[in-house]
Amino acid sequence: MDEDQANAEKSVSSMSLMKQNNSTDDIWRNINSNRDCFQKHALERTNALTFALETEEQVVPITDIHDSSKQLQSAADQESSEKEKSGVRGSFENKTILKPSPSVGTSLIHLLPEATNAKSNGSDSGCPSMMDEAWTRLKNSFVYFQSKPVGTLAAALDPSAEELNYNQVFVRDFVPTALAYLMKVPSHEPEIVKNFLLKTLHLQGWKKTIDNFTLGEGVMPASFKVMYESFQKKEVLKADFGGSAIGRVAPVDSGFWWIILLRSYTKCTKDYTLAEQPEVQKGMKLILDLCLSDGFDTFPTLLCADGCSMIDRRMGVYGYPIEIQALFFFALRCAQQMLKEDTDSSKLIERIERRITALSYHIRNYYWLDFTQLNNIYRYKTEEYSHTAVNKFNVIPESIPDWVFDFMPLRGGYFIGNVSPARMDFRWFLVGNCIAILSSLATMAQTTAIMDLVEERWEDLIGEMPLKIAYPALEGYEWNIVTGCDPKNTRWSYHNGGSWPVLLWLLTAACIKAGRPQIAKRAIELVEQRLSKDAWPEYYDGKKGRYIGKQARKYQTWSISGYLVAKLMIENPSNLAMISLEEDKKIEKPRLTRSASWPCSR
Ligand code: GLC
Repeated sequence: MDEDQANAEKSVSSMSLMKQNNSTDDIWRNINSNRDCFQKHALERTNALTFALETEEQVVPITDIHDSSKQLQSAADQESSEKEKSGVRGSFENKTILKPSPSVGTSLIHLLPEATNAKSNGSDSGCPSMMDEAWTRLKNSFVYFQSKPVGTLAAALDPSAEELNYNQVFVRDFVPTALAYLMKVPSHEPEIVKNFLLKTLHLQGWKKTIDNFTLGEGVMPASFKVMYESFQKKEVLKADFGGSAIGRVAPVDSGFWWIILLRSYTKCTKDYTLAEQPEVQKGMKLILDLCLSDGFDTFPTLLCADGCSMIDRRMGVYGYPIEIQALFFFALRCAQQMLKEDTDSSKLIERIERRITALSYHIRNYYWLDFTQLNNIYRYKTEEYSHTAVNKFNVIPESIPDWVFDFMPLRGGYFIGNVSPARMDFRWFLVGNCIAILSSLATMAQTTAIMDLVEERWEDLIGEMPLKIAYPALEGYEWNIVTGCDPKNTRWSYHNGGSWPVLLWLLTAACIKAGRPQIAKRAIELVEQRLSKDAWPEYYDGKKGRYIGKQARKYQTWSISGYLVAKLMIENPSNLAMISLEEDKKIEKPRLTRSASWPCSR
């Protein structure tokens, strides 16, 4: 028996509560009946935010005052799909005694007729049949453990490809699926979300050792799969905490997404018992302990390694990337709402509050770039000492890349990719900017400016297929140095300036929050022209996102669920409340107007 299996066995027995009760509902019955109301605690906390899960009135602007008159791009070149090569597939990890569980997914034979039917039922764009197809495919990517759905496969079954190493539930990939089921009409189906939250919590409890080094207790898995253990004739879980990932990096984003999803689940179902459960509270605290521990930091941002988030390969996204900082902020604010105040957690809650304040100040001031701020940096003096320094990180103006001067519109702005000593990564990252909007890390003025930028730079950031994960691509020598010559991340491909349909849900949510749904509608229309026809690829390549990605998996689950969530949100903007937080009025705003940046020193 290998160590993972042994761990699986151990953890199964240690979670006696779960062992005794196969039904998750049974677990809730064991919750201390004298518990105090979760919501009441949050409301009573004087320094805390207003508890938003039930009381928060999310403002959902639905009118778009910036409706664009631009014509949509014509349908993209379909020939590219025929020319697309299947590319190198990852090898399927197959141990002699572990086989993929038969309960993982279902046969494509069952799926294909329905899907084909769905396509032929309607037009190619905006048709209900595309949504029907998406729901069918999503359902067929369910992963079951002990007969209960616990997640969805990263890539749904692709008849044209050999066994994929995407045959597992990725935590970050499951988020849009979870949201789709929470937003589903006529009634939501939260069971899979609850099971997923509990199962991943259970995996967090495993001892995580890579070589001889043990990872922090709070680390959540990047992914897990259900295997069939033939000796004992039973299903076991096999989780990856980074040990099997490219570059062996732990997924810093998993824990944050887990907390964010827990809030979405609670907000949607009003089932406070899940978040109140002692094990769940403990899981949350362990995640927070990992990122709030004191160290050598002089910044409130979280130091991380390259490849620790959606961009899980070397891409120069290390140090203090916006992708992680925005998720960190979002998770802190969600946890602030959900942590029960007791003697144990009051110190933690105070630390969370202090970090939220410091983090928002830091990001809003030092990561923000607009025309005025770019001009300020361009004129920076260097080698300034003491706290009066304006150029706090000693950024050398000559290091500003040429492209940013052209890219920066007069109207608009964004949070740049990274800030650290003598380094500003000016690249645009979609996840970080949208999460900043949803968590209200971005002020209203900044939110508006980000939307302005998306409109002004539509061709670059959206092009023919939404959405660029990062802009611009690293090329030539820079690609060589920064990615380590990664053949998967060549210019305008994959993480390096590739276009990811899954990001549509994030853009849509951010647009609705900003009161600019028209922007999202334009992007959705583009997706509807191609995504289903192209078999729901994982990503597209090219400057405009015209070509199906060189190594893109087809029927990628989060391309499917991302589309569904975008549609469900546009159709019912009040769904936004599940994945968005109102501005915290107590957090001091930077002195910024839309077009003018504020001074860096105060
Ligand atoms: C790729 C993506 C990662 C995703 C995984 C599974 O590695 O970079 O973000 O979680 O595929 O879809």
